[in-house]
Amino acid sequence: MKSIVLFASGSGSNVENIVHYFQNKTNVTITCVLTNKRDAKVIDRCNRLNISALYFNKNAFTKTDAVLKVLESFDPDLIVLAGFLWKIPENIIKTFPRKIINIHPALLPKYGGKGMYGDNVHTAVKENKETETGITIHYVNENYDEGAIIQQEKVEVYSKDTSEEIAKKVHNLEYEYFPKVIEKLLLTQ
Ligand code: GRF
Repeated sequence: MKSIVLFASGSGSNVENIVHYFQNKTNVTITCVLTNKRDAKVIDRCNRLNISALYFNKNAFTKTDAVLKVLESFDPDLIVLAGFLWKIPENIIKTFPRKIINIHPALLPKYGGKGMYGDNVHTAVKENKETETGITIHYVNENYDEGAIIQQEKVEVYSKDTSEEIAKKVHNLEYEYFPKVIEKLLLTQ
């Protein structure tokens, strides 16, 4: 049995999609969702889905080993960032080499880096009149959005698309591909 721990800061629609995907599979279990936002919508989703959710604050995360210790106790096969907005501290990166992955809602290296999240990304894609955008699933290292790329998927952008429509297209790609990539990584580890 393989296990994953998820990190999320916001709505958690990817978390919910991943939970549903693995619900009826006997070889993968979701141990817990960790969040840095006490009132994040992802916590309501976890309550509804019967998944444990743990909250931590910035001090615990960046100044102590508290979150690292929790992760070590879970001993996950994969740590999955699904809309998690803080940089992962070095102690966690070093302890879980090539075991932390992130999804970014654009085709990295374009539209990556600090401040490039959520609507900022899709608005920038529209303003720059891009004809395509997509998702990037990548390993996490010490720098935002710079770890080795695992998989990218593309979708066309039309000049009439609003940033909301672009966001929707990208979310659909996330829902389709993120769970499958997670599963593939777990089963080929
Ligand atoms: C997704 O677009 C993901 O690519 C990005 O954050 C967003 C999270 O959305 N990293 P949700 O919380 O899963 O709805």
